[in-house]
Amino acid sequence: MIYLDNAATSWPKPESVYSAVTKAMREASGNPGRSGHKLSLAAHRTIEEARLLAAQLFNLSNPETIVFTLNATDSLNLALKGCLEPGDHVITSSMEHNSVARPLEELQARGIEVTKVETSPVDGINMETLKAAIKSNTKLVAITHVSNVTGTVNPIAEIGVLCRERKLRLLIDAAQSAGTIPIDVNKCNIDLLAFPGHKGLLAPQGTGGLYIRDGLSLKTIREGGTGSRSELLTQPPTGPERYESGTPNTPGIAGLAAGIRYILEAGVETIQHREAQLASRLITGLQRIPGLTIHGPPAGPTRSGVVSVTFADMDVVEAALILDNAFNISVRSGLHCAPDAHNTLGTLASGGTLRISIGCFNSEQDIDKCIEAINSLAAEGGLKEVLS
Ligand code: ALA
Repeated sequence: MIYLDNAATSWPKPESVYSAVTKAMREASGNPGRSGHKLSLAAHRTIEEARLLAAQLFNLSNPETIVFTLNATDSLNLALKGCLEPGDHVITSSMEHNSVARPLEELQARGIEVTKVETSPVDGINMETLKAAIKSNTKLVAITHVSNVTGTVNPIAEIGVLCRERKLRLLIDAAQSAGTIPIDVNKCNIDLLAFPGHKGLLAPQGTGGLYIRDGLSLKTIREGGTGSRSELLTQPPTGPERYESGTPNTPGIAGLAAGIRYILEAGVETIQHREAQLASRLITGLQRIPGLTIHGPPAGPTRSGVVSVTFADMDVVEAALILDNAFNISVRSGLHCAPDAHNTLGTLASGGTLRISIGCFNSEQDIDKCIEAINSLAAEGGLKEVLS
């Protein structure tokens, strides 16, 4: 099978991730931070090791600024709902995933003002447009680093400079970039960084995290037992446990630590370079196919590995089904949970795109076979031939 749906979730995972999960279930299986026995302490150490590795990945001096969550959506909900109050204004882009757009829609109903700045699917957010959207009550800029539909990379370092100058908080959705594009939280002046474990960090599903800048306190969106400050009927005022109520996913977080270790050893720049090369190969091959449109940025050295296409005469859902059934190639089709991005692209009413998303384990051969398969689908009569 050729797996090209890494933007949805990465597969396969490194062997070290599979064994870390099993090991945690067998040997670090106490409740972390609750009891004082060996199994509980082992679970606690597993989680703190993952925090240290995540801090190393994003260049953070204080690992306690990392909060573990269920996924990037959970992190974004905490960041947005924990930060914004009625009367505040937030700026976002027209290329966001529903993990940003839906919480903002909900917050808008609670009196928070939202501006979606028109964003180019090719070039990303325009700094002048972003500047023009700032108002006296703007508190936050909430923006994706990389579009999950087109692979467009936003200039987060420049946005960080602007936010510092204008004293705005910056929330970055790193769902499609954590582990595949270098992120230096300090250099980019990021206040809040939401990341999933199960995509570029190669960890199990149900893992993720939120970086919260030192000194920034958010309202909680979930309260409960933390194993600390148990005398209080309110959440601990500081530390990751403020936001981490309930027993965590220790085996998943053990897998996250192993995934991050794998990424750090391989090198994020190396992974980025490799995925950009494969994306270039894919784009070059697809460009030769008549009737096929590639959406988003052209091939380039810093491009992400997410490539979306549509066909003049073929439905994308049908094309993805045939790729799976006749060619054993896994891709995703449809709206990719990002209606605003499709509205921007002009593919909302037509049912979205076919998305090919490259991961760090894909090869040149995978890409060539995918191009060949799409070529035979798109060729005149090809679809009928494949189906017969
Ligand atoms: N957000 C994931 C995707 O883009 C699920 O497919």
